[in-house]
Amino acid sequence: MLLLFFHAGIVVCMRMAGVKAPWTPENPQFEAPGTLKNRGFAPLPQVFWRNDLHKEAFWNQLQLAVDRHFNPILHPNMTKKGLRNSRFESVVRQSFSEATKQENMRKTFHSLPHHIQRFVNHMLRRSYPIILQPDGECGTQGKDEKKPPLLLFAIKTAELNFKNRQAIRQSWGKAGWVAGQKRNSSRVFLLGKENSDDLGVNISQLLKMESKHYGDILQWDFEDTFFNLTLKDVLFWRWFSDLHCRAVFVFKGDDDIFVNTPRLITYLWDQLETLQANKSLKDFMVGEVIGAAEPDRADKSKYFIPERFYSGSYPSYAGGGGVVYSGLLAQRLNLMSRRVHLYPIDDVYVGMCMMRLNAFPVHHPAFLTFDFPGKEEKRPCSYHKILLVHKRSPEQIVRLCLYAVVVFIFTK
Ligand SMILES: *[C@@H]1O[C@H](CO)[C@@H](O)[C@H](O)[C@H]1NC(C)=O
Ligand SMILES: *[C@@H]1O[C@H](CO)[C@@H](O)[C@H](O)[C@H]1NC(C)=O
Ligand SMILES: *[C@@H]1O[C@H](CO)[C@@H](O)[C@H](O)[C@H]1NC(C)=O
Ligand SMILES: *[C@@H]1O[C@H](CO)[C@@H](O)[C@H](O)[C@H]1NC(C)=O
Ligand SMILES: *[C@@H]1O[C@H](CO)[C@@H](O)[C@H](O)[C@H]1NC(C)=O
Repeated sequence: MLLLFFHAGIVVCMRMAGVKAPWTPENPQFEAPGTLKNRGFAPLPQVFWRNDLHKEAFWNQLQLAVDRHFNPILHPNMTKKGLRNSRFESVVRQSFSEATKQENMRKTFHSLPHHIQRFVNHMLRRSYPIILQPDGECGTQGKDEKKPPLLLFAIKTAELNFKNRQAIRQSWGKAGWVAGQKRNSSRVFLLGKENSDDLGVNISQLLKMESKHYGDILQWDFEDTFFNLTLKDVLFWRWFSDLHCRAVFVFKGDDDIFVNTPRLITYLWDQLETLQANKSLKDFMVGEVIGAAEPDRADKSKYFIPERFYSGSYPSYAGGGGVVYSGLLAQRLNLMSRRVHLYPIDDVYVGMCMMRLNAFPVHHPAFLTFDFPGKEEKRPCSYHKILLVHKRSPEQIVRLCLYAVVVFIFTK
């Protein structure tokens, strides 16, 4: 037995020390981490990449080609050129067409589950027309306001979730609902299109009326499926940047959560000063951080990702149920996302872009994107202490908000 351990130890040590071939121009086995900083963009991840490490994984192969292209050591001039040019799209496109020409990649593609193939078939497309959008400056009721809101709520919802939207409008998403204050927040709902032929009503028409009435609908012409959720992030960043929306912070979350807006706004005002003082506002993201998660390999799961599609663990990311980041970061994510291939799981994708910006989400224990741990909820002050909790019905949301306002007023 002892001998066996000894042997295993040697094998492991040899693997760790031995397999890396020396670097030569002909044999670019691994790549040095970059050190160039340009326009606030960080060097690529601080690792040595082994080309053969993820040979079978479809997404890794696609992205490796793009990351190589922007590696500041291999291509020092690439990062110096402006980041706003359209070359990113062509690099991403080219890496896709080159990679998918390879025999092994094609084989891998055909072995992927059908819904992932469907994702791959559309993963290059990122421009979808806007069907409906708010008329005010970045969100509701912006027309007669000169000052940008402190916080813009960007809420992922679906056409049929009218009840959820209504609960949010009347409670935590109400623009400037903090007593006596005008406009500390505004909101926008992010939607794709649902297949609702069999309902017998014209949903598009209803949504159009809703948009006219509330002015808080942002809808694109793509199918609202789970694997298309990443598009909502990417297209929202673009919309936010193109409009030059000046909201200091963005909250992005689902439509089945409760947010304690008064507490959140107080927290953000507190953070703002420090963040501006130490110039880290451009990197700021806070939420429930999930570190070094492994992709879900259970094939019945909604989050299932086969090894052949993605290998390795995920970068640390903030749970997508509810997360806050700065408007400056939203603009940087808009640029960075053009050099990261779309990934079917939205919050992981945000983490992948963050890692390449050398920015990392901050963990805050009051963001409960997976609900209360154990019986914590039953304690009388639990709701008072949190900033956010997933997952709540529209009725619960309204009730919790009443409670939160009362508590906020009495503890002021
Ligand atoms: C990179 O830029 C430098 C100076 O800016 C130039 O001398 C060099 O030729 C460029 N290299 C490539 C490969 O374009
Ligand atoms: C927003 O909240 C802060 C702090 O609670 C307050 O000072 C400010 O007047 C509020 N209103 C606006 C429009 O910023
Ligand atoms: C539903 O309404 C929209 C907008 O009014 C219209 O363009 C569309 O043709 C209608 N669809 C159906 C199936 O009637
Ligand atoms: C995403 O939306 C596009 C456009 O409607 C659609 O063609 C595609 O099948 C959708 N992708 C997934 C994975 O559902
Ligand atoms: C800047 O302030 C934030 C918020 O307090 C803090 O988390 C971060 O560590 C600070 N960064 C530096 C570089 O001091």
